[in-house]
Amino acid sequence: MIKIEAIVREEKLEDIKEALSKVGVNGVTVSQVMGCGKQKGYKELVRGTEVNITMLPKIKFEIIVSSEEWEEKTIRAIQEAAYTGKPGDGKIFSYDLRNVLRVRTKETGTIAIN
Ligand SMILES: Nc1ncnc2c1ncn2[C@@H]1O[C@H](COP(=O)(O)OP(=O)(O)OP(=O)(O)O)[C@@H](O)[C@H]1O
Ligand SMILES: [Mg+2]
Repeated sequence: MIKIEAIVREEKLEDIKEALSKVGVNGVTVSQVMGCGKQKGYKELVRGTEVNITMLPKIKFEIIVSSEEWEEKTIRAIQEAAYTGKPGDGKIFSYDLRNVLRVRTKETGTIAIN
């Protein structure tokens, strides 16, 4: 099982939700987060010096999938829906996940996410 975490532009929320449902992703967690990438939010000149003003609001998607095939499909869908080509489009992380337990049935592993 693989966990995919995508941190993207707020205004892409609906597009990404739609792209994920087209792919057939079952479960998703979405949160509002703050963050910065290599531009550190945005910079402004203050008395001639560039300073770091703030972190920017972003949306985080968390999705657990059962295989590398699903990982690929899911990441491709997010990348395409999140893309504008400008700095700040976001990042997508994926990593191995140890286990899942569905509370209602006590099912574990891939059965619990399908
Ligand atoms: N190395 C990182 N670790 C954790 N979160 C990160 C990291 N890089 C980016 N993020 C998160 O992703 C969000 C979007 O990052 P962003 O798209 O600005 O990345 P970037 O590396 O600066 O690429 P770009 O040059 O396209 O802006 C950040 O606000 C932050 O929440
Ligand atoms: Mg950036």
